[in-house]
Amino acid sequence: MIKSMNISHNIYIHVPFCVRKCQYCAFYSLPCANPDWESYATNIISEIEHFAKIIGAVSVPTVFFGGGTPSLMPATIFARIMDAIRKNFHLDSDAEITLEANPGTLSSDKLADFCKIGMNRLSVGVQSFDDDKLKFLGRIHTANDAIKLLDTAMKSGIRVSGDFIYGLPGETVSDVIKTCRRINDIGFSHCSMYELTIEDNTPFGKMNLDMPNNETMANMYMAIGETLNLPRYEVSNYAIPSHECRHNQNVWDGDAYIGIGDGAAGRIFINGTWYEELGNGKMFNQISDETRAIERVITGMRTVRGVLVDDKTEKVINIEFAKSHPDMLRFVNNRISATDNGMLVLDDLITKLVK
Ligand SMILES: C[S@@+](CC[C@H](N)C(=O)[O-])C[C@H]1O[C@@H](n2cnc3c(N)ncnc32)[C@H](O)[C@@H]1O
Ligand code: SF4
Repeated sequence: MIKSMNISHNIYIHVPFCVRKCQYCAFYSLPCANPDWESYATNIISEIEHFAKIIGAVSVPTVFFGGGTPSLMPATIFARIMDAIRKNFHLDSDAEITLEANPGTLSSDKLADFCKIGMNRLSVGVQSFDDDKLKFLGRIHTANDAIKLLDTAMKSGIRVSGDFIYGLPGETVSDVIKTCRRINDIGFSHCSMYELTIEDNTPFGKMNLDMPNNETMANMYMAIGETLNLPRYEVSNYAIPSHECRHNQNVWDGDAYIGIGDGAAGRIFINGTWYEELGNGKMFNQISDETRAIERVITGMRTVRGVLVDDKTEKVINIEFAKSHPDMLRFVNNRISATDNGMLVLDDLITKLVK
């Protein structure tokens, strides 16, 4: 395979099926335990071929299978998709290949098969160590199912991350601290801690739940930062340095990524121009350098290292505002980033930072 002269592109593959929908989830996925995997693979592979034709056989540093529930996919389907990526692009020899997994859908044999095919990072949807909370969230697994999967995955030598949700109705700061201590004991090298967001069009959205107030949520967020052994590197993500999710880091930094599958978005670069790509590779909108720079500020500011101030981003950043709020924003190595105080009001801060 001849490498294209175009810049490298990360690849995101969406797997839009779940055994059943969780009570809080607004992600695009269909409740379906036995999808037609052959048609799914055929569609995904034809998209891969289509993108290789228009972008070129670019190098690919990361592939991320997100969902939905990618761990529902049979290993043979995963192998066919990975083959198509290897045939049509130049997959880096040290590429990070992540799969999101829902406990209860990945046996140790299947995990071993996925590893043989190239998966080298597993992101496990643990959500909680409390079975009552898992039931309330509508999860299909128990805490023990998650712990068994984590244990097998960690022993297999791949990188393992856990997703957790905090700020459930009735949850206290000390509950969240307990969860963090358990995460420390298990010895994760990476975890994602998401504040429960009540989304419209979900069962939780219709329930009028008694959620913790903003002050409690902020205290939980601070307690997580103080209790976890892992440093925060993005608003919701924590990792031992060098164990960060490379795929997400690249996307937040503004690198190109191809989104494949219904419901996947991407930012691709063809002949010097950026395009927004929405679902199925059928729709492309050209985006201006200014829009791309604003997007880079928005995603970069979510990371602890912040956004690089270069000839593109400096045109859209209100430098005067940044300099006059040292309690919220800092400049290090030509990057602007949010301080701990700034992280607590990030959305508002970004709105003011962008000209
Ligand atoms: C696409 S799901 C990932 C994997 C897999 N589907 C699973 O749930 O195990 C990504 C993560 O987003 C988080 N999430 C989804 N909806 C959320 C919400 N409304 N509030 C907070 N976190 C949410 C969950 O922690 C979930 O693991
Ligand atoms: S949280 Fe994960 S398993 Fe639950 S419905 Fe959403 S995508 Fe599916």
